[in-house]
Amino acid sequence: MSDAPSKPSVTLDELASLCKRRGFVFQSSEIYGGFESTWDYGPLGVELKRNVKAAWWKATVQERDDVAGIETSILMSPKVWQASGHATHFSDALVECKSCHHRFRGDDLSGGACPDCGGDLTEAKQFNTMFKTFVGPVEEEASVTWLRPETAQGMFVNFENVLTTSRRKLPFGIAQQGKSFRNEITTGNFIFRTREFEQMEMEYFCKPGTDDQWYDYWREQRLGWYHRFGVRPENIRLREYDPSELAHYSSGTTDVEYKYPMGWAELEGIAKRTDYDLRKHAEASGKNLSYFDEETKEHIVPYVVEPAVGVDRCMLIYLLDAYRDEEVRGEKRTVLKLHPFLAPVKVAILPLSRNEQLVPAARKVYDLLRPQFATQYDDAQSIGRRYRRQDEVGTPLCVTVDFDTLTDDAVTIRERDSMEQHRIPIANLMEALRERLPEC
Ligand code: GAP
Repeated sequence: MSDAPSKPSVTLDELASLCKRRGFVFQSSEIYGGFESTWDYGPLGVELKRNVKAAWWKATVQERDDVAGIETSILMSPKVWQASGHATHFSDALVECKSCHHRFRGDDLSGGACPDCGGDLTEAKQFNTMFKTFVGPVEEEASVTWLRPETAQGMFVNFENVLTTSRRKLPFGIAQQGKSFRNEITTGNFIFRTREFEQMEMEYFCKPGTDDQWYDYWREQRLGWYHRFGVRPENIRLREYDPSELAHYSSGTTDVEYKYPMGWAELEGIAKRTDYDLRKHAEASGKNLSYFDEETKEHIVPYVVEPAVGVDRCMLIYLLDAYRDEEVRGEKRTVLKLHPFLAPVKVAILPLSRNEQLVPAARKVYDLLRPQFATQYDDAQSIGRRYRRQDEVGTPLCVTVDFDTLTDDAVTIRERDSMEQHRIPIANLMEALRERLPEC
């Protein structure tokens, strides 16, 4: 973390409290006192998460003609992790305080003393952060494997399968979304770093010598994706790694960094992985993982550029970035200005009151909209409070059904950001909503 921002618009604690209150994120195993750094997504959180994944899939797979999707298993042969280098290299430096016995990641410490009590620290020792598990009923060394720490290897070991079944030509990509697990030494900052998380990764295979060009291309594409879905440009930047920071497989890496309340830190990594993974798997498996270049009539091992991001971390930045405290007519309003595509609820249907004539009319509008949009029907408390509640969860549009509706067959659309209201005949409602909900 560096350059802590002067005044974040929201702290992580405030955001976590909103997330709990409104059903985005709950602490895992909460009734038992919680379980360290694991989180559950509630009714609104799961919608936001699905929308973040859909936004990534749309831009990375659906809208392109050079990327194919895949979904591989979390449990894989231990040979995968031996060949990829994770069994030996996927470790962090662990140091322990000799007085208070708190443990830290060597990378996180700048001085030689314990940050908690000032005590002496032990020498750093390497700690493999993969979760070991046993496959089958016997807990013995022969049955050990690991929960995957990245989804990437599932794509490398399927390179040949995808190449032959989808008849791809270089350059092309394989994309996947799925859970990964790391026994992190230090976790925290809400859903920023956890031991179980979800990733969205893409391996872009290209001809050797063209990877620098694709590296530049994917850095711009990925930054553009965040802008497209509403992240404020001043809160996001690219940072190229110093060679001393590179992972064991990488010849160059750039982070997309975000300005979190605790300072600038990694959001996404874009790495040049060279031909490292395909070569290692070819050597270890004895299989040919090369590509036949029709033009030069040569077998080549493709180079790889990989954009990789965590879904949970993405959700965190979209929430942080959307958060605003505003003053409206002397009152505070908290609003999440989420891009409509990401918003968990697109349209809320609000009858002015629970009057017995209004309810059937409002239910009719609800029934009309529900198959087309993620909707919510809310009739509890005053209309003003309901608008505030929808603002706080980022609902872009509210549709209000009032007594005039019973005679004019029209409703009011209220916009989250401008708070403007427009009277629309129910016959034109669907069209009016579609206009205001681009890409949804
Ligand atoms: N295949 C490359 C790879 O996994 P990484 O930089 O270790 O690269 C990619 O991870 C992204 O996954 C990170 O930028 C971050 O968004 C997310 N990520 C990694 N570890 C995480 C953790 N413990 N908790 C939440 N997200 C994590």
